[in-house]
Amino acid sequence: MFCFISLDASVFKGQRAYMKLCKSCHKSGGKLAKSHTQEEWEEYFDNNAKLLKSAHAKDSKVMDMLNSEKFNKNLKHMKQFFYKYASDSGNVPACN
Ligand code: HEC
Repeated sequence: MFCFISLDASVFKGQRAYMKLCKSCHKSGGKLAKSHTQEEWEEYFDNNAKLLKSAHAKDSKVMDMLNSEKFNKNLKHMKQFFYKYASDSGNVPACN
């Protein structure tokens, strides 16, 4: 199930959180990561993930998740995960 092999604990935790919280809708985390640049990912996760929240504003279930403790605890790890595999990162996940 965890097929990105990362030695960075934060990236690993971010990926694990992605699997639990986002994968059901967005499928491959590697593909999603690659659909934005590092700068864009920073914007999504800055200010308590304000932009990420506005992207999901229509879905109250996603909003509940984005305001949950579980999400907030993993926010900075997820940011690391997306940052690591962003389109301009030069990194390619081992598999997706
Ligand atoms: C219930 C389904 C659902 C869940 C769970 C969900 N999303 Fe989304 N997400 C959507 C939909 C629908 C859109 C808006 C349509 C689009 O632009 O693709 C969206 C849009 C986005 C966007 C902006 C558009 C894009 O594709 O880049 C990002 C980034 C994103 N989601 C990331 C996440 C992350 C990270 C999580 C987990 C913390 C998450 N989503 C959880 C359904 C979901």
